[in-house]
Parts: sequence; C-alpha cells; structure tokens
Amino acid sequence: MKLFIDTANVSEIREMAWLVDGVTTNPSLVAKEKRPFREIIAEICELVDGPISAEVIGLETDTMVAEARTLAPIHDNIVIKIPMTEAGMKAVKILTSEGIRTNVTLVFSANQAMMAAKCGATFVSPFVGRIDDMGGDGMGLIAEIKDCYQNYCFATEILAASIRHTRHLLDAALLGADVATVPYGVLKKAFDHPLTDLGIARFLKDWEGVPR
Ligand code: G3P
Repeated sequence: MKLFIDTANVSEIREMAWLVDGVTTNPSLVAKEKRPFREIIAEICELVDGPISAEVIGLETDTMVAEARTLAPIHDNIVIKIPMTEAGMKAVKILTSEGIRTNVTLVFSANQAMMAAKCGATFVSPFVGRIDDMGGDGMGLIAEIKDCYQNYCFATEILAASIRHTRHLLDAALLGADVATVPYGVLKKAFDHPLTDLGIARFLKDWEGVPR
C-alpha cells in the first residue's frame, strides 16, 4: 500500500518526505496555511517525488478543466483533485484524454466510485472518517469499491481518505486499498506501541548489569 500524507503544511511534509509516496491537499488544508495555493503546491512538489493532489474550486466542467490546465503544468507530479459530481466526471473524462491525472474526491458510495472509474480517474478518494462520523461504515465502503473494481479490472486506484486514526490505516491495508492518505499526527502514531517503549526501557536497564 502506498502511503500519502494528507496536509498542506510544508514543515510536516518536509519531516515525513523520507517516508511518504505522495501528498494530498484540499481547500480546507490549504486555507490553514495562509499562503498562496500555487506557491504551496510548487514547494510540496520539490519535497516529495510522487503524486501531489491539488484541488479545483470551480463546479462547472469548463471551469474545472480550465483550473486543471493551469495547475497541471506546475509539475509533472501534479494530480488534479475533482469533486464527485456529474460535471466533475465530465471534467475527469476530458482531463484523462489530455493525459492529466485526476483524483476524484468527496466519494461516499460505491456507485460514485464506479462512475469515477468509468471516466478514467487515476485515484478515487472515499472519505472513511466522515462516513464513520455519521454512524456509517467507512471501511465497508472501501471493501465494496474494491470488489466492484476487481470485478472489472478497473485501473483506478483506491485512495482511502479522511483517515482519523491508526486503526483506519490498518483496515485500509487489510482491505487492499491502493493508497492511504494519512494526517501527520496519525502517521507519527503508526510507529508507536507502548510495549516497544517498555521493551526498550527493560533492555537498557538489563544492559546496565552487563560487565564492561
Ligand atoms: O483527503 C481528504 C481528507 O483530507 C478529509 O479529511 O478529516 O477533513 O474528513 P477530513
């Protein structure tokens, strides 16, 4: 499974660049940074050599395509994030025909994921955390999409998004998501276990008794 970091914060990305395979941003994450969007995206592209998702703001097909055509030339690694709407899927079809990679975002059903795949999306982003927030089964959606895609060998990669904790990360891997995009804090926690800390402390204590 590929591991992306879900942030627009360049300090977080710089710290985790050695580990991650790509970066996802969204308008909310970019807004937190109080810096120009294109400047942030260009900087991220210098830090991580992998897919970097940059989201369009327009809601009409024409405006989405126009925005995508200005964002894609920033760097070869740019992937255009398009919201899951009918107009958005028309934009995905056009961009795919132009060789511009896309990440269909705000996906909450397997039917939406199939539409994205039919239109040639590079990635599809089911938002597991937001589904769980409403009492739904976010990981169940990942499993459904996986089944649908496997039935027809769709090339679209399943990118588990809206990951809130390390169990989400593990479940995404167990279900065979192609990618998980993970916030900085969750990524850091994935290294930790209290028994590891206890084990290190015990080894060091016991080592004090070894004659030197
Ligand atoms: O990649 C999409 C993700 O950033 C959304 O996460 O936590 O706002 O639901 P969240």
